[in-house]
Amino acid sequence: MNQELNHKSIHIIHLEDSVMDHDMVLRTLRHSGMSFYLTRIENLVDFFHTVSAVNFDVILADYQLPGFTAIDAWNGLQNQTKLPPFILFSGAIGEAAAVEAIKLGMSDYLLKDDVAKLPHVINRALAMQEARLTKERATTELAASEQRLAKFAEHLQTTIEEERAAIAREIHDDIGGSLAAIKFDLSWLGRHQNDPAAKTHIEAANAMLQHALGASQRIMMNLRPAILDQGLEAAVDWLAREFERRTGTPTTLRCNHGRTEISKPIQLTAYRTAQEALTNISKYAQCTEVRIELSDSENLLTLEITDNGRGILTTERTKPKAYGLKGLQERARTMGGWLDVSSSQAQGTSITLSIPLTAPPPTEGKEVHA
Ligand SMILES: Nc1ncnc2c1ncn2[C@@H]1O[C@H](COP(=O)(O)OP(=O)(O)OP(=O)(O)O)[C@@H](O)[C@H]1O
Ligand SMILES: [Mg+2]
Repeated sequence: MNQELNHKSIHIIHLEDSVMDHDMVLRTLRHSGMSFYLTRIENLVDFFHTVSAVNFDVILADYQLPGFTAIDAWNGLQNQTKLPPFILFSGAIGEAAAVEAIKLGMSDYLLKDDVAKLPHVINRALAMQEARLTKERATTELAASEQRLAKFAEHLQTTIEEERAAIAREIHDDIGGSLAAIKFDLSWLGRHQNDPAAKTHIEAANAMLQHALGASQRIMMNLRPAILDQGLEAAVDWLAREFERRTGTPTTLRCNHGRTEISKPIQLTAYRTAQEALTNISKYAQCTEVRIELSDSENLLTLEITDNGRGILTTERTKPKAYGLKGLQERARTMGGWLDVSSSQAQGTSITLSIPLTAPPPTEGKEVHA
């Protein structure tokens, strides 16, 4: 083994049986001013031992060595986690062998006759390796950051649902309780009052009270859809009827039942999807008809809400402060599903939620019961 040491060096492993060729490499690299540390190895056992025990930057390999080729050396490296640039530096080996070497993933091939180009070839291989590692690091960081974001979105959804359920409970217990007490007192007053003017006021107060009771029921329903206890179909049907009553737009619901059990979180995701899609339709679609299709056959829950309105413009899809559709997309992903938005101008919009029902959700979130 011959070694040449400079500080801040590139450590090059040179797989070479010819001392003369090794000296030629040494002279060329010295002449180029490169700072390097060159280790010559001539058999496979030493080679594998060195690459697993020592930190190095580049492998420079002759093609034909006694009893093995550079291909054997390369193949033996494949279980290494960190593969450094591997440059074939040899005499003529024929086009087929050179092509095979590059196909296998070796970094470069240089003829010994072109030794003057060696410093450039080594620097280029190192630069490419650095670029590859930087890209790999960026990809890993991006994947980790996406995972963090998905976890955060899931946590946010759970928190929102819990908060909604808590507000609904407060309305039910506090406001609902007070309104019920007022109703009781008003009817007592009505029974014990003979003055016609007072009776008119009591009737007006009763009408107002009915209005307040209806409003608090409606608000509670939006916050915490208790109707989900009767199943997803009943809940979506309730949304459709409410939407039709409020907007006057004819709305149909078609259901195709399988026998699959749908978990509460998935039902809630579907419910919130229908809710947001219908809210968007009432705000933007300017349509004359809405169709909702709900199917849970073949272990896939699909919910499609289609309008025949003006469609979503391409620019509107990337509106910075619009979170409805993005939120639905994130919610679907949390449940292991996906959301498709298809729309063309003046031909309406279709929002389709799909969630596989057999596979469990990929992340374990707290169950939020509606
Ligand atoms: N059914 C639809 N018909 C026409 N345009 C739509 C429809 N649904 C959504 N859009 C357009 O797509 C945009 C994005 O919708 P999204 O629900 O994501 O956000 P938003 O409703 O504007 O705000 P947010 O839902 O956060 O309150 C809307 O602003 C609107 O321009
Ligand atoms: Mg919206």
